[in-house]
Amino acid sequence: MPLQTEGIVVKNERIKSLYFVLRIYCPPIANQIKPGQFVMLKVSDDAFPLLRRPFSIYKSYPVSYPEKEKRGYLFLLYKKVGKGTQKMTTLGKGQKVNLIGPLGNGFTLPPLPSSANCILIGGGVGIVSLFPLAEALKWRKLYVFIGGKTQSDILGIEDFRKLNSNIFVATEDGSMGFRGTVVDLFLFQKKRFNRNETYYTYACGPVPMLKVLAGATKRKNFICQVSLETRMACGFGACWGCAVRTNHPKTPYQRVCEDGPVFRFEDIAWE
Ligand SMILES: Cc1cc2nc3c(=O)[nH]c(=O)nc-3n(C[C@H](O)[C@H](O)[C@H](O)COP(=O)(O)OP(=O)(O)OC[C@H]3O[C@@H](n4cnc5c(N)ncnc54)[C@H](O)[C@@H]3O)c2cc1C
Ligand code: FES
Repeated sequence: MPLQTEGIVVKNERIKSLYFVLRIYCPPIANQIKPGQFVMLKVSDDAFPLLRRPFSIYKSYPVSYPEKEKRGYLFLLYKKVGKGTQKMTTLGKGQKVNLIGPLGNGFTLPPLPSSANCILIGGGVGIVSLFPLAEALKWRKLYVFIGGKTQSDILGIEDFRKLNSNIFVATEDGSMGFRGTVVDLFLFQKKRFNRNETYYTYACGPVPMLKVLAGATKRKNFICQVSLETRMACGFGACWGCAVRTNHPKTPYQRVCEDGPVFRFEDIAWE
């Protein structure tokens, strides 16, 4: 059940180039969040920006979490791209922030019992929503594809390593790992995925990347979900500003914030 509540900034640190991690103490949301859900954050008390900004949850720890010092925390991993995220970088320890969450449907985990393997494909900050999913899937065989324009856009490798996942990295300029997009790398590695096995495949990233991936995963043994990051005004289903076209004649448009952000690949009209 989404709540509008206050959190307290515990730490807001730059991790590299334009990327920051904001740690917020907010037990009511930390207790409820599922992989793939997000929050709408009021980044500042000033009149601008008026609208909240959507952010996926990178890490969260409910109050029942065994390590006492982490209990009730939410971690947002964000990129400074515009005026809102610029203001966000100035949030300091002890400051109060207003949040609405958890929002959206989140990812559907593979059914049990099944030992199916999982493939996670993230471009840029798309990797953020995939990390809690990887934690939920850590006892399965995990293949994680991480991509970005350049080395400084490659996020979360150390965290994914701790989950014993098979990690593949692509940068468009070749400064780290494979030279090309993360989808090029996935296509390059596709031969390792056996046609007789099922792969639950989860992706998040820019729409052009997802569009190509939708074509590349049209095989029966890839069961694919995608998390979309459209621009949002309200974040809870009221304005339809985030609507995307679907392949369903009865519901030709769906709201990313309320009906998503996670959809089956085949539900989205990619053209
Ligand atoms: C469900 C969801 C989860 C998200 N999770 C994260 C996350 O974990 N980490 C993170 O860094 N960002 C995430 N985003 C994107 C983030 O919300 C935007 O980067 C942020 O709202 C930009 O605010 P701004 O005021 O700084 O930028 P603005 O000044 O509003 O815009 C600056 C530039 O960024 C572009 N832009 C803004 N929003 C988006 C968007 N949603 N998609 C593509 N381009 C955009 C604009 O077109 C413009 O070029 C998520 C978005 C959604 C919908
Ligand atoms: S952002 Fe308002 S309906 Fe989705």
